Amino acid sequence: MAIKRDAALALEEYNKVYKPLYDAFIANPNMSPDELEARFRGMNLERTREMMRHNELFVGSIAEAIKATNELVISAVKTARDVHGARFEAVVDLGAGFGHDLHVLHENFDDKIRYIGGDTSMYGVALGNRAYVGHIGMHPFDYYEASGYAIIPDDVPCLVMTHHSIEQIPDYMPVFKNLLKSKSVVEVVHMEPFGENSDWAEKYDYNRNMMAILTEAHDSGAVEVLDVERRVFGVNPENPTSIVWWRPR
Ligand SMILES: C[S@@+](CC[C@H](N)C(=O)[O-])C[C@H]1O[C@@H](n2cnc3c(N)ncnc32)[C@H](O)[C@@H]1O
Repeated sequence: MAIKRDAALALEEYNKVYKPLYDAFIANPNMSPDELEARFRGMNLERTREMMRHNELFVGSIAEAIKATNELVISAVKTARDVHGARFEAVVDLGAGFGHDLHVLHENFDDKIRYIGGDTSMYGVALGNRAYVGHIGMHPFDYYEASGYAIIPDDVPCLVMTHHSIEQIPDYMPVFKNLLKSKSVVEVVHMEPFGENSDWAEKYDYNRNMMAILTEAHDSGAVEVLDVERRVFGVNPENPTSIVWWRPR
């Protein structure tokens, strides 16, 4: 393993991304959500790169990648609501960056739902609260701090989602235990690289134990794993997004 990933390393990496993004947005507050997202990926909307969908490689623009990623997030939440019958009044995105996914969900779902995000980078939190003021609420949140899970409201049923942020946490177990303690959580959807057998995850010390923990918890009856979709889409084919939906029993 080349590096050891911890809270400080991830914070340093992401402040380097979100600080310039925050400054760029302050200089040009008319920047569209897609432009912000493209800059987050360090590219412009027209630039092309190799991507992956269901194990097929193809070349597409960053604009196409953003569209595909937005659709993946919308579809994952619709699956929770329409296929699993989850009834939630808040969506809580942990490791939400600057809240782009919550903004996309707000545009596509009932605006009576509360859209709440948490991230460890103060620049991500500040940017989300400026760019999407009025319809999402971003809060400081660190996966490693048990007290931070209080951003999950306890007065309404909640859908918790993560999107390429569990990847940043080598050991899923503390996250899993904290999610189980939050009694308002009706379903959890992780849109994450699963990491097992991945050279990329090994090299960057990304999470590799989430699915093993969830599978064991399902087998022991602690939770119900509802659905799994592997390698759905990859802006980076070496670190593609898979999806798992689970709920506490
Ligand atoms: C690849 S980005 C994904 C951001 C967002 N979910 C998205 O899909 O655009 C990983 C995110 O995880 C956050 N992160 C890393 N370590 C974290 C921690 N210990 N607690 C909370 N967030 C963390 C980073 O700040 C960053 O926003």
